[in-house]
Amino acid sequence: MTERGGNAIPARDPSSLAVGVNVRLEAPGDEPWVRAVELAAFPGPYEADIVDRIRSEAPDGWYSLVAVGAPGSGIDGLIVGHLLLSPCPVVDDRGDEVATVLAIGPVAVVPEVQRRGVGSALLHVAASLAVARGVPALVLLGHPSYYPRFGFASARDAGLAPPTELWPDAAWMARLLPAWADELRGTVRYPEAFEPLA
Ligand SMILES: CC(C)(COP(=O)(O)OP(=O)(O)OC[C@H]1O[C@@H](n2cnc3c(N)ncnc32)[C@H](O)[C@@H]1OP(=O)(O)O)[C@@H](O)C(=O)NCCC(=O)NCCS
Repeated sequence: MTERGGNAIPARDPSSLAVGVNVRLEAPGDEPWVRAVELAAFPGPYEADIVDRIRSEAPDGWYSLVAVGAPGSGIDGLIVGHLLLSPCPVVDDRGDEVATVLAIGPVAVVPEVQRRGVGSALLHVAASLAVARGVPALVLLGHPSYYPRFGFASARDAGLAPPTELWPDAAWMARLLPAWADELRGTVRYPEAFEPLA
């Protein structure tokens, strides 16, 4: 605690301060570091394997974002976070493809710098990228308590059904972007790389 003007101000735990990162697209040579981030953030290799499969199997239109420690951050140049965006067709009741949305996930931050703003930085850049590309919506299966702060809400309410009925509604979320239109409703089909899940 520190004293200022007679009021006690709780000292901030340095470990709770935001850590400076720059978010950029993955570049050749980043792959092993991205895999290391995924393995550090999740209990098993499942998410890391999805990322590797998307790189080799997915059609064009996927994006891999990395969060790199900024100069002076103490983690200068290190890849400490990763976010994958995969293109997913939206198919209407007649089986016609009406749109392509981007699925977010996995999102991973190394445990040493979790809860210091890195995941947020990745999500903000992902949304800006999708808007700039004219993508109508972002979708994800994720923590219901984490994503609403980034503008995500029930995907079903927006008219987007998940690829499998096994996914809980609370975790199936979408953020509608300026290019969204109501006629883009339908079922979101995930790439095969996600098949153990979808
Ligand atoms: C989830 C994750 C990507 C968030 O990134 P981060 O850099 O730690 O998050 P930020 O610092 O930007 O945001 C911190 C906020 O996220 C919340 N948060 C972190 N992990 C969370 C989780 N598993 N569930 C819900 N909220 C979570 C914190 O409570 C904090 O909220 P607060 O500011 O209101 O206290 C990261 O913690 C992570 O890699 N976790 C393990 C892998 C994982 O679960 N990935 C997401 C799959 S959907």
